[in-house]
Amino acid sequence: MNDSSKKREHWATRAGFVLATAGSAVGLGNIWRFPYMTGEYGGAAFILIYLLAVLLLGYPLIVNEMVLGRAAQRNPVGVFKVLAPNSPWWLVGALGVFTGFIILSYYGVVAGWSLAYIYKVVIATVVPGIDHARVFQDHIGSVWEPILWQALFMILTVGIIAAGVVKGIQRWSMVLMPVLFVLLLVLIVRSVTLPGAEEGLVYYLRPDFSKVTGRTLLAALAQAFFSLSLGMGAIMTYGSYLDNKDEIPSNAMIVAGLDTGVALLAGFALFPAIFALGFEPSAGPGLAFITLPAVFAQMPLGAFFGVLFFILLAIAALTSAISLLEAVTAWLMDEKGWSRKRAAVVMGVVIFIVGLPATLGYSVLKDFSFPGLNKDLLDTYDWISNSIFLPVGGFLMAIFTGYVWGAKRATDEANKGHNRFKIGRWWAFLIRYAVPVLIFFVMALGIYDTFFR
Ligand code: PFF
Repeated sequence: MNDSSKKREHWATRAGFVLATAGSAVGLGNIWRFPYMTGEYGGAAFILIYLLAVLLLGYPLIVNEMVLGRAAQRNPVGVFKVLAPNSPWWLVGALGVFTGFIILSYYGVVAGWSLAYIYKVVIATVVPGIDHARVFQDHIGSVWEPILWQALFMILTVGIIAAGVVKGIQRWSMVLMPVLFVLLLVLIVRSVTLPGAEEGLVYYLRPDFSKVTGRTLLAALAQAFFSLSLGMGAIMTYGSYLDNKDEIPSNAMIVAGLDTGVALLAGFALFPAIFALGFEPSAGPGLAFITLPAVFAQMPLGAFFGVLFFILLAIAALTSAISLLEAVTAWLMDEKGWSRKRAAVVMGVVIFIVGLPATLGYSVLKDFSFPGLNKDLLDTYDWISNSIFLPVGGFLMAIFTGYVWGAKRATDEANKGHNRFKIGRWWAFLIRYAVPVLIFFVMALGIYDTFFR
């Protein structure tokens, strides 16, 4: 059943669309994940590969999702039902909605840690000699506390989505994104002006090509998909609230630029401070929650800057989480005729429950891990969705546009409206050849490296 009797909402302003989409892209992926991945996978060598992934895969695929969403005016499943009726292509949308589900379920866990740390960082910075790794382990290892914060975060997310596209998503993105940019700038200025900051810049920017393997390439690809919110239909859903006079090529460029800029800048906020105050960055997801509180503890007014940092992290997470929930909500509204409120609330609860094993992976389910993967449950959710489902989704969306719906049609659709610049044949070339081939080889290499070496 279709909800076509009701008029679909559209973004009220260009800035609303751009900030909401940038809000989706800029998230934990930029501020929590990108810096520790860079540290782990070879500094500037990883950054270089990442930038190539954004240019060759990210930009063409953002345009692709926006175009498909606007052309069909539907959720990810509906897009394929409208553009390729009576074919199995809707399964690509279904995979997307499912992936959004999984991502949000564990995203809410890390976002919950961020909320808790807005006050925990104060304790961690004012109590002398406290063991920061211990504080974090105790937090995630206790059963109820992280669950309550995760629940609170999901309630905020549901509240915004239930309010609608313009009154919820757009309104909150217009408020939160500027705050995010200001907070990030304050933290960067603080970080790079500490004496001894250069050492951190060297660490961050020195290329180590010996760390570049198939795993590194797959990690960079996965990071690009995750960071740009690609491959699951979040951008497609936001694109479905565009109308024909809106520009796609330039808006997609702004979103990709803001997202990449914030990821790079997050490294400038973190590494100089870490080194200036005499720390080694801890590898992995603990970077933001263990090393940083220790750094803030040594910094003049550290508690203040610590609170700012975790507010920044929580805001970034919230504007991304709403896009994940919106894709799922739009599916239930368009395809099943549910009301927005009911879809948002029911899905919020289900996603929260699906996320519980990821939370409990640090307490009750600590010893559980899937054979061959060697990861805790949260990392497993993360790995499967980002390294497998998102790239597969992006691959199939490119094939769909390139060979089924038609690259020429997509190009014309993208160039509708008053465009500052238009995409040309190069875009069709990327979508038809470069994107599928690159994704295929990087995935094959990365999976081989992960399981067979
Ligand atoms: N782009 C978000 C981040 O970098 O944290 C995460 C994300 C949001 C991934 C929405 C996928 C998505 F559809």
